[in-house]
Amino acid sequence: MKTVIYPGTFDPITNGHIDILKKASRVFDRVILSVAEDTGKSTLFTVEEREQLCRGAVSDIANVEVMKFSGLVVNFAREVNAIAMIRGLRAISDFEYELSQALMNEKLSNRFSTIFFVPDYKYLYLSSSMIRQVISLGGSINNLLPPGVEEALRKKLNL
Ligand code: COA
Repeated sequence: MKTVIYPGTFDPITNGHIDILKKASRVFDRVILSVAEDTGKSTLFTVEEREQLCRGAVSDIANVEVMKFSGLVVNFAREVNAIAMIRGLRAISDFEYELSQALMNEKLSNRFSTIFFVPDYKYLYLSSSMIRQVISLGGSINNLLPPGVEEALRKKLNL
């Protein structure tokens, strides 16, 4: 069985992430959406809240599981027997950052590769911080978010 992880901050999960996840789930036997605790970012949602929102968002995709992890992503990948890590490559601006992460992860664990999927063009310029900003300023973008995520954002932001 070929297992891969799809790690990220998911603060919050968006339809752009779901698009990548669905593409990966068609290629691999088991995809673990892996919610990182140690991201170097200060997050709006706690890791448990991010994990819960992700669980709700992927419940209809058969071979996808959600797990949170702390520490290095390569150690988590080893624990769950993942053969590779999935990342989305949206635009050229993602490339340098993704390349440096992929190379560092390969340095940390030389049996571990990163596989990139491209998102649907609708999600090319989508990011979680953009979503947080739009909602906090009173906008509504339900079609870019899995059910329940916009409501969770409003609640968290006391709107
Ligand atoms: N659709 C929409 N948005 C997307 C996207 C897609 N397909 N792919 C990425 N994004 C957005 C995210 O929403 C996020 O937006 P934001 O910065 O506005 O919040 C941004 O692109 C990148 O975030 P994400 O994909 O969550 O990655 P990340 O860079 O925040 O997290 C980890 C990277 C979690 C994989 C990395 O920090 C990690 O591995 N942490 C564990 C510790 C470790 O091992 N560190 C060493 C790594 S070399």
